[in-house]
Amino acid sequence: MDSIRVTGGTPLHGEIPIAGAKNACLTLMPATLLTDSPLTLTNTPRLSDIRTMSVLLQSLGAEVTGLQDGRVLALSSHAITSQRADYDIVRKMRASILVLGPLLARWGRAEVSLPGGCAIGARPVDLHQMAMERLGAELELREGYLHASAPAGLRGAVIDFPIVSVGATENALMAATLARGTTEIRNAAREPEIVDLARCLRAMGARIGGEGTSTITVEGVDQLHGATHPVVTDRIELGTYMLAPVITGGEVECIGGRLDLIAAFAEKLDAAGVTVTETPTGLKVSHHSGRVRAVDVVTEPFPGFPTDLQAQMMALMCTAEGESVLEERIFENRFMHAPELMRMGARIDVHGGTARVTGVERLRGAPVMATDLRASVSLILAGLAAEGETLVSRVYHLDRGYERVEEKLRACGAQIERISGT
Ligand code: UD1
Repeated sequence: MDSIRVTGGTPLHGEIPIAGAKNACLTLMPATLLTDSPLTLTNTPRLSDIRTMSVLLQSLGAEVTGLQDGRVLALSSHAITSQRADYDIVRKMRASILVLGPLLARWGRAEVSLPGGCAIGARPVDLHQMAMERLGAELELREGYLHASAPAGLRGAVIDFPIVSVGATENALMAATLARGTTEIRNAAREPEIVDLARCLRAMGARIGGEGTSTITVEGVDQLHGATHPVVTDRIELGTYMLAPVITGGEVECIGGRLDLIAAFAEKLDAAGVTVTETPTGLKVSHHSGRVRAVDVVTEPFPGFPTDLQAQMMALMCTAEGESVLEERIFENRFMHAPELMRMGARIDVHGGTARVTGVERLRGAPVMATDLRASVSLILAGLAAEGETLVSRVYHLDRGYERVEEKLRACGAQIERISGT
């Protein structure tokens, strides 16, 4: 298992290119199942989660070919042989549930293994199930698999989600494109990844309106066709790298960054005393004058502060001037980075879904362990700020969502290296 060694204290200066969004790509790829014709995705990130989704689609009989060094994915579902998403693949990645809607819509049946728990909480799939039932499918849980069937095809319906779910909105949206009649998705997620999916589906011939608002309307069509679609910028990778010059003191331009993807986060940086400016090519972030001010954060569905940036923001708050309160409202168990940050000298009190962080002058390097994807990158950020050496182990979590993290940071002057197999 690889580790990453960071020696902190160097201000970062330079440019960091931001990749296409992992979470957008993970819902765009299963959209291939909706048509016989080729779907080409450009600006795709090279990540282990993307490889896992490729393996899942290939296990169903889809063709997935990486072109241009993995930056382009050519997908085709003209020869699907199976509608069963196997436990061995699904257990590696929850986003596997996103094949449910497309399989049901196109073949009237799907068997998808339940993903099981994950480190950040129970994360059930009842809302995915409810959406498919509203569209006329019958679902049954047998031997750990959701067996779904709609022999006469799906039909349009009102799907009124009791809470906002990104994945369930994506499944509902994809399934509704081929359902008979009109579907209205209420209390829909408004994340940029949903907007990106809707754009791609529209390019494939779907009739969709209202994406980016909480009501999405879909008029079902008989069939979809192929398309070429560029994956939207990864706003979580963007936010993560925006913190690198802040935590070390420095100036970095995030190439491809857009303020509209990250407004709530940028507002918090502004309140903390950080300068963020739009440039013709991205977003420039600079911070030269000592510690940032402590700010409070509440995670919420988009356009609120993203839960996927909470751990990274906590790393910054560890060295802020004053006390900040971070409230996690999306996942029940998403403070596992706190005890690791405390090993580096951070002062954090966690009570239920709230963490109170009292900023310290300086963190100190320590051996720490990555517990999930975003937690692992928060430890790297903390390591960049800390005095001495930090060794982050179990970085396979990191490789699920960040490509070439050490190269991107090293190009800005960070002292960071990957150590293989320890
Ligand atoms: C997606 C993102 C993830 C991000 C999360 C919230 C992908 C691949 N992953 O995950 O990085 O942290 O959005 O922004 O895009 N819930 C239920 N029942 C369900 C589904 C969800 O109760 O059937 C709950 C979850 O446990 C959670 C909340 O709804 O508390 C929101 O989760 P959801 O938006 O569905 O997250 P994901 O789509 O899994």
